[in-house]
Amino acid sequence: MSSFNALRVRADVPELRRFVNGRRITYLDSASTSLPPRSVIEAMSRYYELRHANVHRGVFQTANEATEAYEGSRSAVARFINAPGGGDEVVFTKNTTESFNLIARSWGATHMRAGDVVLVTEMEHHANIVPWFQLRDAIGIEVRFIPVSDDFRLELRDLDALLRDVKLLSVTATSNVLGTKNPVEELARAAHARGALIAVDGAQSVAHGPTDVTKWDIDFLAFSGHKVLGPTGIGVLWTRQGVLDTMPPFLGGGGMIADVRTDGFLPAAGVARFEAGTPPIAEAVGLHAAIRYLDALGMANVSAHEDALTADALTRLSETFNGRVRVVGPCDTRERGGVISLDVAGVHPHDVAQVLDQFAVCVRPGHHCAKPLMRRFALAATARASFGPYSLRRDTDVLLEGLEAALKLFG
Ligand code: ALA
Repeated sequence: MSSFNALRVRADVPELRRFVNGRRITYLDSASTSLPPRSVIEAMSRYYELRHANVHRGVFQTANEATEAYEGSRSAVARFINAPGGGDEVVFTKNTTESFNLIARSWGATHMRAGDVVLVTEMEHHANIVPWFQLRDAIGIEVRFIPVSDDFRLELRDLDALLRDVKLLSVTATSNVLGTKNPVEELARAAHARGALIAVDGAQSVAHGPTDVTKWDIDFLAFSGHKVLGPTGIGVLWTRQGVLDTMPPFLGGGGMIADVRTDGFLPAAGVARFEAGTPPIAEAVGLHAAIRYLDALGMANVSAHEDALTADALTRLSETFNGRVRVVGPCDTRERGGVISLDVAGVHPHDVAQVLDQFAVCVRPGHHCAKPLMRRFALAATARASFGPYSLRRDTDVLLEGLEAALKLFG
């Protein structure tokens, strides 16, 4: 039987009890960052109160406990995404952006030569574009883009030709602007058939449905702790053991070495060589608690809940505003997640967001760190509403009320 109850999830999140501008907060910005449930906050507090110590160094009791907690989180992440090689394949980074920089600086710089191609898409976040341009500027690779169609999908007709000379296909599972869900398994098959690897940006997907790197048959997965109900300051890069073993360290310093002498150093084996310096220990504890929480909800339940909310919001936006509010993204919930970018006729997205703030509605206005995509659709910005597992239909009620007010004021 399903253990999912959105009202209970709502009650577990302290911030959702806040009042802003005299109204209870309506949080519709989970694509920017998600709100942690109390269990995450308490796990981190307990860690700091009782067992804060550095990891992989001390021999005293609390140091061992801290190390166990840190490594326990790594194993939990591996189980959550069904990593075939367990925790030995999970690198903790700072966020999704650092994970992509790690792929580019370590794997890319080692395995790519001038003329090799990395294939990304027009709907990528800058985190999956800029590191590749930086690598292009350093060693002369080509960065190629899969176009996005007028109906907000990847244009895959010419995929085979686009994959020529490609060493890595790097693609988001779910667009942070359009909400479009991409066919990851199909893309993985196509990349592998051409001898390329595939990296997946899970920043907008991991908290919203099941993730299975084994079933998807992908080679890299990047995501952020703070978007999966966990804390900021921790991200994940998963890659298979066979790939990880070919990657040199990216950041140098303490904790990532086997030996250092006056004439050089030897990197540590395994994931340790990617985690220079004191790592985000409390954040790993929080991430573990977040994963435990999501696991208990059941990711298929979360996905079904958010799909229903999205379908309802899309229908009501269309019925209420009759074209005055355009959704920039697919209409069919089978092809999209709960990220809803809005283009409000005659009203700048920042004005939309400011009026919504008067109703205590939190949305993100702007280009969403996806400028190539915004240019593709000739948009400077959108006002983006996005759901999380704690979202309710009543959030859409308030969103509609605020949009009506914005149209009255500016439209
Ligand atoms: N990457 C986050 C977003 O899309 C911050 O809003």
